[in-house]
Amino acid sequence: MSSELITSSSPLLLSNALTFLFGLTAGVTIYSLLKTAQEFKTPPQSKLIPQNSSTQQTEYIKKRIEADFTISRETLLRVTKQMLIEMKRGLQSDGQTLKMIPSFVTNLPTGTEVGSYLALDLGGSNFRVCEILLSSDGSRVRSRQKKFVISEDLKQGTAEKLFDFFAEAVGIFLKEVLGESTDEFNAEHKKLGFTFSFPVQQTALNKGNLMVWTKGFTVSGVVGKDVVGLLQEAFKRKNLKITATALVNDTVGTLVSHAYTDPQTNAGVILGTGTNAAYVELVKNIPKWTGGPVTSGKMVINTEWGAFDEEHTVIPFTKFDKKLDRASNNPGKQTFEKMISGLYLGEIARYAIVDLMKTGYIFKKESLSESLLSKPYGFETAYMSRIERDHSKDLSDINALLGDIFKIFNSSLEERSLVKRVCELVGLRAARLSAAGIAALVTKMNKLDGCTIAIDGSVFEHYPHFGNRMRDALFELLGISAENIDFAQARDGSGQGAALIAALAEN
Ligand code: GLC
Repeated sequence: MSSELITSSSPLLLSNALTFLFGLTAGVTIYSLLKTAQEFKTPPQSKLIPQNSSTQQTEYIKKRIEADFTISRETLLRVTKQMLIEMKRGLQSDGQTLKMIPSFVTNLPTGTEVGSYLALDLGGSNFRVCEILLSSDGSRVRSRQKKFVISEDLKQGTAEKLFDFFAEAVGIFLKEVLGESTDEFNAEHKKLGFTFSFPVQQTALNKGNLMVWTKGFTVSGVVGKDVVGLLQEAFKRKNLKITATALVNDTVGTLVSHAYTDPQTNAGVILGTGTNAAYVELVKNIPKWTGGPVTSGKMVINTEWGAFDEEHTVIPFTKFDKKLDRASNNPGKQTFEKMISGLYLGEIARYAIVDLMKTGYIFKKESLSESLLSKPYGFETAYMSRIERDHSKDLSDINALLGDIFKIFNSSLEERSLVKRVCELVGLRAARLSAAGIAALVTKMNKLDGCTIAIDGSVFEHYPHFGNRMRDALFELLGISAENIDFAQARDGSGQGAALIAALAEN
């Protein structure tokens, strides 16, 4: 392995190294595939599972799950390389796996933007309405916000219901939080930024058609429509005279909002209910751009990397990933997102744990049907975090969790350690894949000599060790150059970013 090439700080060399490796691995792949087939073929239980000690059996099973979920450095390098290929294709033309959507944001803020803005933010499970004040000294103040939960009914309902819900929420915010009558508000605050965190083909800074739903939404009547238009119609129905001047993806909002205080910021990444990234690209590298000359020569691109590897060219796909995908409401779609983001991690782990139960390796005397483990999405990613945080000798908190939530009352220490190992492996794989995506971004931007990646989302913020695991993987991919890449925790950036973009739109 040519490690000196990989650890080089030159992006060109890195790219060459990846090409070299890719070429090399093309030959090696057949060998690896054969080896993989040999290693991972499930052996007949009676012959190969050591029967003499339960500890030996546990170790054997752990190795099998490790083989399923471990992503080697070589595979990770191939993931980065493939991500670069798919990014370039997406910049070339529409209809590719990575949508690489020009955001119409061509300037980052300077820190001098001022004013009072309204921001709406539809992420995964919540809708937030915020009033954001940008003050003249360059510091930003989000004065007030209110969160509204999006029910499953709304997620599966109609466009009118969803957008009426948004307009009602704005009305409630104006009255209850700002204490203003809608007339007063209409007179004062005209500027609104709308963060809509789904793949939208933008046609202007404040216009864009939903391409496809992600993150479990299936609302009818929105795909193919301009979401700002739908919002404006709902405002009209509710008699609200507000105009949306910016339509923003959460990754773009996070990038812009962080750049307001840290000018080194060149990318925004979300690792939450869903996953995605946006970064600053040179317009000359976007052959599909037909929007005319751009003075800054730059454009923020929403990659929609959640759809990466939908063609299954590089990432090893386990039987658990397959099950999850088949049962999801968007089979075949969002392959990368389904291995990384908070909506899905718990579900992958659940499939793996249920498999261990069904094959009789764990919880033999417990009833699966009476446990929440049998319910799709019953094993939330938050439980994985809790399990990974249990460092006690007898894994007592895992024991409590299994009993309280999953009605598994008699677990042995070895069984609990197996459950913990499943969580660690699923979490580790997600962190390593995220790092491979970031390595691709940094290489694409030619920023191996230094940049800040603003990262928001519950997985990055709350999942134990996630950031450190990403760092380790980035080091494996970029060598010493990884030290030049700063992961900055961004919080609530998407709404603030929308307000900033609305402010930039006025200049
Ligand atoms: C999904 C959406 C994407 C969003 C991401 C994070 O991948 O398609 O637009 O940025 O989730 O919220």
